[in-house]
Amino acid sequence: MKRTTEKTSAIAIAGLVLVGSMLAVTAFAAPYQGKKGKKTETKKSAAGKVDKVALAAGKKIYDANGCANCHKIAGAGGASGPELTHVAKNPKHTLQWLETSIVNPKADSPQSFMPVYKDKIKGKDLKNTVAYLSSLK
Ligand code: HEC
Repeated sequence: MKRTTEKTSAIAIAGLVLVGSMLAVTAFAAPYQGKKGKKTETKKSAAGKVDKVALAAGKKIYDANGCANCHKIAGAGGASGPELTHVAKNPKHTLQWLETSIVNPKADSPQSFMPVYKDKIKGKDLKNTVAYLSSLK
């Protein structure tokens, strides 16, 4: 009888150790997974939001860099550059194309006198400016 009890408790302890280590693994893994899950979630829910935020931020960059001195959007701005009111309507004007037209205007037209903004607008600012331009359809 005593032996059986010992055996049972030995099994119980083994079980506890097993469950315990499983819990430990889960506990270690959980924050990582949680972070990962959260990240994707933020990305997803942000996607809709980002648009509005990015557009507003991009418009600010556009205004701050004097793009309107040469470009017209919805009636406001200069005329030495092409009007941008519907710049994204042209299917050729992809995000990549728009980005290039800011960082390296000469890529599309070697004669371009548009300033090169490669060192002025970059990273998030560049992405936002492109997002803003891509909304002009
Ligand atoms: C000094 C005048 C000038 C300024 C300032 C200027 N651009 Fe331009 N931009 C031009 C000219 C001229 C062109 C047409 C030639 C070419 O393709 O570069 C052009 C072309 C473009 C195009 C391509 C449009 C098309 O339909 O071909 C985009 C997009 C653009 N500019 C965005 C911007 C943005 C964004 C800024 C501000 C960060 C800016 N430009 C500042 C003169 C300017």
